[in-house]
Amino acid sequence: MSQLVHTRADLARARAALPGRVAVVTTMGALHDGHRANFKRAKEVADSVIATVFVNPLQFGPGEDLDRYPRTLEADVAICESEGVDVVFAPVESELYPNGRTGLSTVHAGPDGEILEGASRPGFFTGVLTVVAKLFHLTRPDVACFGEKDFQQLALVRRMVRDLDFGIEIAAVETVREDDGLALSSRNVYLSEIERAAALAIPHAVRAAQDSPDPLAAAEKVLAAEPGLAVDYVTVRAGDLGEAPDSGPARLLIAANAGATRLIDNAPVQIGDPDA
Ligand code: PAF
Repeated sequence: MSQLVHTRADLARARAALPGRVAVVTTMGALHDGHRANFKRAKEVADSVIATVFVNPLQFGPGEDLDRYPRTLEADVAICESEGVDVVFAPVESELYPNGRTGLSTVHAGPDGEILEGASRPGFFTGVLTVVAKLFHLTRPDVACFGEKDFQQLALVRRMVRDLDFGIEIAAVETVREDDGLALSSRNVYLSEIERAAALAIPHAVRAAQDSPDPLAAAEKVLAAEPGLAVDYVTVRAGDLGEAPDSGPARLLIAANAGATRLIDNAPVQIGDPDA
């Protein structure tokens, strides 16, 4: 049975009663099989699991989907229960930001927070890292599980934890995909049938990149052939987001809009011939 708590005080009491090593999975709710994979991993790496459910206004820019972001707490708690999550922390905004958001001290991600997602969504990673830091302080986990789907977020959380000495282990969880390859995302519910069909060019581009010694060119070719997608970026970087190597393992990252819905994806790729 998951214990649902809404306040810091109730969370502190629930946290104190948790046995052993504690994992946290931070979420914005609208839970799907991707989150389930995070919970499963959390159960593997810890004795007790806390899930947080909070749609963080600090990481939404003007004109983004803060108001229409799906809020499904009852269903989220049911998913947490079925995955054996011990505590669900679902605060309202005033509980997490009791002094408001104006003039707030924030966590800056450094230069890699300004590229890729950060270039298109100014302030996004400041919002993410700030709330993640607060949730880490409130839940005091030994380990935190993050999906590879948000690869830049995962890399920047890892870096924050290292640079600011949080002393928390970060466990990465592989992206979960629909049968047709589309990466699971809470935002997929926004897609019309036509947009969803166009969105499939993204996993097709990922596949093509993984099968090619020139992953960037292969991905670009597939994406360029889909008129229903507006590509924001397609790039190959090193695993820590640095410049891609001339050859060897790297990461392909893609962001594109299908209609008004922003979709991101990424995957490990190999530059050059692995047998050369
Ligand atoms: O990945 C998400 O759902 C959010 O960015 C996170 C980490 C819960 C912070 O609000």
